[in-house]
Amino acid sequence: MLRCAGLSRSFGALKAVDGVDLEVAAGARHALIGPNGAGKSTLFRLLTGVLRPDAGTVALNGRDLTRLSEARRARLGMSRTPQHSSLFASMTAARTVALAVRRHGRVGVLPRREPAVWDRVDELLDAVGLAGRGGVAVPSLSHGERRQLEVAVALACRPTLMLLDEPAAGMSPAESKRLVELLAGLPPEVTVLFVEHDLDLVFELADTVTVLHLGRVLMSGSPERVRASERVREAYLGTGRREELFLT
Ligand SMILES: Nc1ncnc2c1ncn2[C@@H]1O[C@H](COP(=O)(O)OP(=O)(O)O)[C@@H](O)[C@H]1O
Ligand SMILES: [Mg+2]
Repeated sequence: MLRCAGLSRSFGALKAVDGVDLEVAAGARHALIGPNGAGKSTLFRLLTGVLRPDAGTVALNGRDLTRLSEARRARLGMSRTPQHSSLFASMTAARTVALAVRRHGRVGVLPRREPAVWDRVDELLDAVGLAGRGGVAVPSLSHGERRQLEVAVALACRPTLMLLDEPAAGMSPAESKRLVELLAGLPPEVTVLFVEHDLDLVFELADTVTVLHLGRVLMSGSPERVRASERVREAYLGTGRREELFLT
């Protein structure tokens, strides 16, 4: 479904993402992992269109997106959870989701009474485990609830591909357990690519894992294979020499 080839991006002399080939299958729960500074967030920003690559291509269902804006990519079904700051601080959870539903319908104004929109809002809040919390103002939600709300906002656009950068960051164990259930329960037609540093969560949720290290793909495969890999262990511990890690 999503394919990138030779994707590269440097910052000065630093090759943050260095010739990455990646394929995400339709319906996958695909995790992107790697030590700090591996290039995961940069790769994500290249995939979503926040950042332009120096080289390489990104394609969704065979369509080349490399030169498309973030908004165009979103309209083609690629959605990512917004940063915290983009949730409007003064609004209720329900209204935040309602705006996302309306935005997807490409109408700017949000009429007070519009049953179809509010039914969909209830459905989405329910889907992310926020049933009954719609009337609560965003700042009064817990950290975990805000992340659940972000998923509801992302789902409002009916994405076929969801990109999540560290969805469990800052969550309590109970909150991250709920998040795993939420992501595991997403409809199978929604493909998920996520960056996560909590490896327990990764191995619980992912069906495919790609390990990034020094901007390059170290390994891609089943969670079992990745977990058993000595090279991956060395990359995390920082003990492997570059040539030992990448040349097999
Ligand atoms: N905007 C930027 N300007 C300069 N260097 C950056 C920028 N973004 C990321 N980097 C560098 O690129 C490398 C990869 O960063 P990042 O993609 O954030 O890694 P990860 O998400 O895997 O921790 C790091 O060395 C980081 O310091
Ligand atoms: Mg990162």
